[in-house]
Amino acid sequence: MDKVIAANWKMNKTASEAQGFMARLKELFDGAVPEGREVIVFAPFTALEATARSAGALGWVQAGAQNLYPAEKGAFTGEISADMIRSAGAGIVLTGHSERRHIMGEDDKTVASKTLFALQHGLKVMLCIGETLEEREQGLLRNVLERQLITAMSFDAGLLSGHSFYVAYEPVWAIGTGRTATPSDIAGAHALCREIMRSIAGDEAFSIPLLYGGSVKASNAGEILLLDNVDGVLVGGASLEAEQFSKIITA
Ligand code: 13P
Repeated sequence: MDKVIAANWKMNKTASEAQGFMARLKELFDGAVPEGREVIVFAPFTALEATARSAGALGWVQAGAQNLYPAEKGAFTGEISADMIRSAGAGIVLTGHSERRHIMGEDDKTVASKTLFALQHGLKVMLCIGETLEEREQGLLRNVLERQLITAMSFDAGLLSGHSFYVAYEPVWAIGTGRTATPSDIAGAHALCREIMRSIAGDEAFSIPLLYGGSVKASNAGEILLLDNVDGVLVGGASLEAEQFSKIITA
């Protein structure tokens, strides 16, 4: 499986800044396609169309959205539908990011309904899971990962086909803190995730890309990507500059 290198720009970049980033990425790779890599950029809604257009021109980057609302259309002020995301040119969406869970108050049930809705409406999904420091210190890692995965993956296994579903393990205490989980923390949590995913989806679980996120940068990406059960990285802060992100793509 190609390693998945994903940028989550969070609430950063206007449409023209996104275009500038993509133009710089194009220059940095100078016509070459990074080998063995699947590259995704999760852009904010207002930069999604510009990102998708530039990504399409480049040919090896996919554009993704950071959130969606689980209804086709209607009176949901401020929300964005799956159809709108697809019509902006994006084919994948994040669900359950820790900032949505912990700042916006999304619970497992909401994350599950967004995940199912997106899959049923033609979007691929990258489901984010991960424990807080308090939960880890209380020995609740397995419970949290089981609860988050089992609730969000309560969909028909048929929806897993066609490389449509990804999981990103992002320990909350390692996000934006500069505190990267150690290689053994990551390998341990990823083995646990794979085991839980297997109990839900059987052998199909081995074809679900499992990414790590939390203070990934050019200097640690190579080591993380070599760990067992790590199929990619989801990068926040270090994905904002094309130079740094390009080094993570080639790490
Ligand atoms: P940082 O890479 O800034 O820690 O963010 C990780 C993240 O939340 C990616 O989704």
